[in-house]
Amino acid sequence: MSEPKIKIEGDKYKAKDRVRADRTDELYKDIPEGGTLMTIKDLRVVYRTDDSETVAVENFSLDVKKGELISIVGPSGCGKTTILRCIAGLLQPTEGKVMIGDKECTSPGSDRGMVFQDFALFPWRSVVQNVEFGMEVAGVPKEERRERALRYVKAVGLEKFADSRIHELSGGMKQRVGIARALVMHPAVVLMDEPFGALDAQTRNIMQETLNKIITHSARTVLFVTHSVDEALYLSDRVVVLSKRPSTIYKIVDVPWPRPRDRAAPEFTELRKKILSYLEEQNVME
Ligand SMILES: Nc1ncnc2c1ncn2[C@@H]1O[C@H](COP(=O)(O)OP(=O)(O)OP(=O)(O)O)[C@@H](O)[C@H]1O
Ligand SMILES: [Mg+2]
Repeated sequence: MSEPKIKIEGDKYKAKDRVRADRTDELYKDIPEGGTLMTIKDLRVVYRTDDSETVAVENFSLDVKKGELISIVGPSGCGKTTILRCIAGLLQPTEGKVMIGDKECTSPGSDRGMVFQDFALFPWRSVVQNVEFGMEVAGVPKEERRERALRYVKAVGLEKFADSRIHELSGGMKQRVGIARALVMHPAVVLMDEPFGALDAQTRNIMQETLNKIITHSARTVLFVTHSVDEALYLSDRVVVLSKRPSTIYKIVDVPWPRPRDRAAPEFTELRKKILSYLEEQNVME
């Protein structure tokens, strides 16, 4: 397959600003750890077709602090992907807005790195070339971007497959390429849509550990959608529990424990039960 021309619309950070394009986390160094980095205000999303109208998200507001990992859990189809797509600038909300620092996000930009539920990789590129893509657009010199890409390919355990084509990979391996591709760009905010959903239990645990290390060492700000309450509690600083559709915030649960966490600890089990009961309340009220 030959490579089509790809144009990234709306990315304000072009090649000449490459330090910013491939390190947008540095744009916000004046905001202290724990200060508000991203504000989501009164988000409302209505999908309209010729004969129907679906309100997917209603009245969704959230302040995301710099360096925190927030998990979003909620019933299937409640609007989690829709929220992430609005933040990524891939979908225009019907009402409301998303701000990072003092900049409103209305189109995709390299300050938001997204790991997609369905991978969204370039099939005509190898593993390492997929991870290099954003840096290529940002104009990072070849040697530097290859070195950085290989580091992240290794971090997700794919060094033996760096030159493989995407169709030669399993679903879980593809997802790991997507994760490396997003993280290598050091975006101000990382958006992850069920990034570990396609992984087997063992790889999932390894990837949770890897993400834990990455966020602990480099203070990443992450919004993480998952179906697993266990995973949410293991990784996050806060867990946002959504209502059934149209999704709005039902509860926000603080997770106060230091990392790494012990899944077998009584307080872990206790909080897991509590969040599961919140989810149950949303499912049975349908
Ligand atoms: N492009 C679209 N056009 C019309 N309706 C849509 C569109 N995308 C999503 N929807 C609807 O909006 C609602 C929310 O969808 P969304 O994909 O955001 O849910 P989700 O919480 O991510 O689901 P899952 O847990 O299954 O991934 C669903 O009812 C879905 O059918
Ligand atoms: Mg989804």
